[in-house]
Amino acid sequence: MEMKIVPELKLGFKDAESYKQRENHELLNKIFVRTPMLDKLCESNTYFLVGEKGTGKTAYAVYLANNSYNNNYASLRYIRETEYQKFLVLKNSKHLTLSDYTNIWKVIIYLLLAQQVRERKNKLPLLGNLGKFNALNKAVDEYYQHAFSPEILYAIQFAEEAKLAAEIIAKYTGLETKLGGEEKTSINFSETRFQTNLLYIQKHFEEALSSLKLAQNHILFIDGIDIRPSSIPYEDYLDCVKGLANAVWSINSDFFANIKDSKGRLRVVLLIRPDIFNSLGLQNQNSKIRDNSVVLNWLTTYTEYRGSDLFLMADKLLAFQQETELPTGMTWDYYFPYNASNVTSEQTHKSAFISFLRYSLYRPRDILTMLSIQKENFIEQGRNPKEVFSERDFFSPAFTRKYSDYVLGEVKDHLSFYHSNEDYELFLKFFQHLNGHSRFTYDEFLVAFSDYKNFIEKNIKEEPSFCKTPDIFLQFLYDTNIICSVMTSDTGPFFGWCYRDRTPSNIAPKVRTHARYDVHYGLMKALDLGKHFD
Ligand SMILES: Nc1ncnc2c1ncn2[C@@H]1O[C@H](COP(=O)(O)OP(=O)(O)OP(=O)(O)O)[C@@H](O)[C@H]1O
Ligand SMILES: [Mg+2]
Repeated sequence: MEMKIVPELKLGFKDAESYKQRENHELLNKIFVRTPMLDKLCESNTYFLVGEKGTGKTAYAVYLANNSYNNNYASLRYIRETEYQKFLVLKNSKHLTLSDYTNIWKVIIYLLLAQQVRERKNKLPLLGNLGKFNALNKAVDEYYQHAFSPEILYAIQFAEEAKLAAEIIAKYTGLETKLGGEEKTSINFSETRFQTNLLYIQKHFEEALSSLKLAQNHILFIDGIDIRPSSIPYEDYLDCVKGLANAVWSINSDFFANIKDSKGRLRVVLLIRPDIFNSLGLQNQNSKIRDNSVVLNWLTTYTEYRGSDLFLMADKLLAFQQETELPTGMTWDYYFPYNASNVTSEQTHKSAFISFLRYSLYRPRDILTMLSIQKENFIEQGRNPKEVFSERDFFSPAFTRKYSDYVLGEVKDHLSFYHSNEDYELFLKFFQHLNGHSRFTYDEFLVAFSDYKNFIEKNIKEEPSFCKTPDIFLQFLYDTNIICSVMTSDTGPFFGWCYRDRTPSNIAPKVRTHARYDVHYGLMKALDLGKHFD
């Protein structure tokens, strides 16, 4: 059996955005695990794709955009810093409110979806009453001088210049009704009536889209709301994202869901982290999560991991590049032929994957990162290329350092939505007050927190919201998956992790107070903890 040597293993990309590039489509198709979550995502009542960092939100959207899976045609669009800046400028020049934001987003979404349908990949003829749709397309062509590019940045312009856009739409759709024998009514659009103009544009898109008879489903995925650029203030950012989430909800449930007589459906799906979803304060948030979201979840246990999608993902990644196809799990066992230490449960195979689980938050990106760090170290250490991995790879300082940098980097990205860089630096200072302990009781936490608070009062003018009270701070540590609570029971300790306690019916779980707490394994090194166990 000829297996690839470790230095030549291809381990793909840690951020699925790279799979958007044409030359990487094939690679994603080979390594992608079609979990039941993929089918749920294709259901017509799914409007939100929810998952913590590194759980595969982008990967699922890219996979659907690259392939016409089950008659679904999808595209994926990013919102980036320049787009947010445009929104800010608009807000200031036109004195926008939240509902204006929602209406702007509606125009953007309609425009992008309409152009997607028009450019549909299969090129089967479009059916239905095409008059309105064609007229609208002519208007879009005139506005963009035949150079529309399917990016949010371009679509914003259309809403921004609502007066001009509405006038051009009136010109073409008026023409259309005239051909149909009706009187053309002339409409005046005024620069100052921005809202009215937007509604006029929306209405025309709705009429055009609802008159189509689609043979396929068309999905527009919107990604990129989870990292706030530092140039955009939090409140403004939140308003923009709230407007977007409201638009997504309203378009899907009030409009697309009610289009009759079309086999194919239109849909817009927002990629979003659970904590951000929670901070939007949408109406009936709980039922939206339960009934209209896919919540990505890769949880498994030490005894059952062998049948889990997370393990399958890791095995598939190693297996796709081999010459011979082996039964599931065998490629993994070839590269990791050892038992993880201190495994007490009964195992059917070598238990190396449990070491990976221990260091992870059960997210695909965690596993990928460990694999690529170990491969990198393997090469750096100049090991015999014929060798494979061993448990020592977890104990080398090079591994611990690189991996905890990664975990801390993910925490930093997570926090960047809410807090500034300075706040993040200040947050890290808390851990110096734990005296090196990675395990502490509630009372010990209170002492450390009060030390920390003294430090803040002496050194910082304005304290960040997360350190208002000890319990708010404890919740913060738990929300970021830095600590878990540990409760002892007759059957042994019970570990309460935010990523495990979170379910669709409890999207923002609360930390237990008065428990004992453990800092995550993968972070101890980066936070300089774990030197004292007692
Ligand atoms: N179903 C899957 N099959 C195979 N690999 C997957 C799957 N889902 C995720 N992955 C892997 O996990 C990596 C991380 O996923 P992705 O970038 O989509 O996470 P994300 O949820 O978008 O994170 P972020 O919030 O940081 O944007 C991907 O690059 C991909 O390699
Ligand atoms: Mg992503």
